[in-house]
Amino acid sequence: MGQVRVRDLLKRLLLKKDYQVQTASTGQEAYKLMDNHMFELVLLDLKLPDSDGLTLLKHLKSVQPLCAAIIITAHSTTRSAVEAIHLGAFDYLDKPLEDMEVFYKVISNALCRQYQNDPVNADKEITTTGFIIGKTQKMRQIKQMADILAPKDITIMIQGETGTGKEVLSRYIHSVSKRANQPFIAVNCGAFTESLLESELFGHEKGSFTGAISKRQGVFEIADHGTLFLDEISEASLSVQVKLLRVLETGEFFRVGGKENIKSNIRVIAATNTEIEKMVNKGKFRNDLLYRLDVARLILPPLRDRIEDIPQLVDYFIEKNGSHHIKESLSGEVIQMLSSYNWPGNIRELSNVVAHSLAMAKDGKIKPYHLPEKIIQSYKTQELGFTHSQAQTSSDVEKRVIDKEEIINKFIEDFTGYLIQEYNDTGLIDLPSVLDYLKASQGQVAQKIIKTIMAENLGDRQSTAKKLNLNTRSLRYLLKEKPAKIKMVGKS
Ligand SMILES: Nc1ncnc2c1ncn2[C@@H]1O[C@H](COP(=O)(O)OP(=O)(O)O)[C@@H](O)[C@H]1O
Ligand SMILES: [Mg+2]
Repeated sequence: MGQVRVRDLLKRLLLKKDYQVQTASTGQEAYKLMDNHMFELVLLDLKLPDSDGLTLLKHLKSVQPLCAAIIITAHSTTRSAVEAIHLGAFDYLDKPLEDMEVFYKVISNALCRQYQNDPVNADKEITTTGFIIGKTQKMRQIKQMADILAPKDITIMIQGETGTGKEVLSRYIHSVSKRANQPFIAVNCGAFTESLLESELFGHEKGSFTGAISKRQGVFEIADHGTLFLDEISEASLSVQVKLLRVLETGEFFRVGGKENIKSNIRVIAATNTEIEKMVNKGKFRNDLLYRLDVARLILPPLRDRIEDIPQLVDYFIEKNGSHHIKESLSGEVIQMLSSYNWPGNIRELSNVVAHSLAMAKDGKIKPYHLPEKIIQSYKTQELGFTHSQAQTSSDVEKRVIDKEEIINKFIEDFTGYLIQEYNDTGLIDLPSVLDYLKASQGQVAQKIIKTIMAENLGDRQSTAKKLNLNTRSLRYLLKEKPAKIKMVGKS
């Protein structure tokens, strides 16, 4: 009866510290206590003999919302403990309780509602890692959750559209974890071919494949004791997934072509911009690996769902770009225009827009006409009364009559107008570089379209190519994954 002993032991320890304590050995007893007394703090084991701890927690939160709850959990129930945090528990502690000082600290923090990292310290970490939280409820919850999970050493899965800050968040988690002084290494699983990714992660022995001219360590060795950020985890091939599963389960792996079992103590944070369950359903991602990675999941909201945070983010990017008179440098209309845009590239796109506008503005004062055309256009469309959400309905789509030719003509007119203005100012137009710029834009258009359609098709290259009337080879070429080279058949 380990549970009984833990309960009695904790009671004795807490009484010694002058807390008033009541105990319950079953769910039923706990319900009765809750209905008859007010508590400031509940220590709750999720495994109860007669009822479910999470249900009890929900009841507690509904009848005594101000009472803090700390979950006591065995390793096997970490997942439920994380769920308990989502339901409003303050924190969880792993059983057996090893460090009683940690226990007392969590208790006293819970009683004064202070989260793991004292605010002063946390702010310092935020500035060093460049993680802006903002005011939205969702982001505040994510920060709170990150603070609770960071010291725990559990695997975390971060989900969010591209540019929402998955890597920024994971660097923050690392910086407030016990591993902060150890390496943080980010690997983008989508940026390597299958065999290169395998060697990047696990290293290889000399001669294990053509080109392996010497032994090489992989990140699981290099980042030992640190944090490994696996970006675009859904892009890892099934064979790499098997190896990841093994190292996560056993803490051991082999170098490519190696026989020596190597140990690794690494905390993995994985990121995905697609709903990875869909990949599981399609047989492209192993369910058991997802289960391993997804002990806790943090879902970052797209920027369009946190437009209140745009001013703070813009401030941050202006300062980062070296301009300091921020407050005077932005008119309300600029903020309004930025807030009306849909931000498919999220915070990364916002950061680029700020850099672009500052470059256009030259004197550091951003005016509406310094913003990129896409933002001006989107603002104009909305001023005419068609907001993004309204535009989803079919009658509005009809009203909008998006005419490709009209858009291109408008672009040509704006662009040439801009150049002629520049000619009037400087007496020169560098036409060759203008044409180069247009050519590069063509590539950007292609890439943007491919990436959007590919995301919709969950990264499936073949169906994406089909929908774009391309073969997969030209698709890869347009994505710049292959050199623009014609394969030579015959003697070389
Ligand atoms: N919370 C944030 N605070 C400040 N800057 C951010 C934040 N999130 C994202 N950014 C900016 O956006 C860029 C992209 O972030 P990143 O974490 O790489 O996004 P993702 O991995 O989701 O594509 C970063 O380089 C940073 O400039
Ligand atoms: Mg990223």
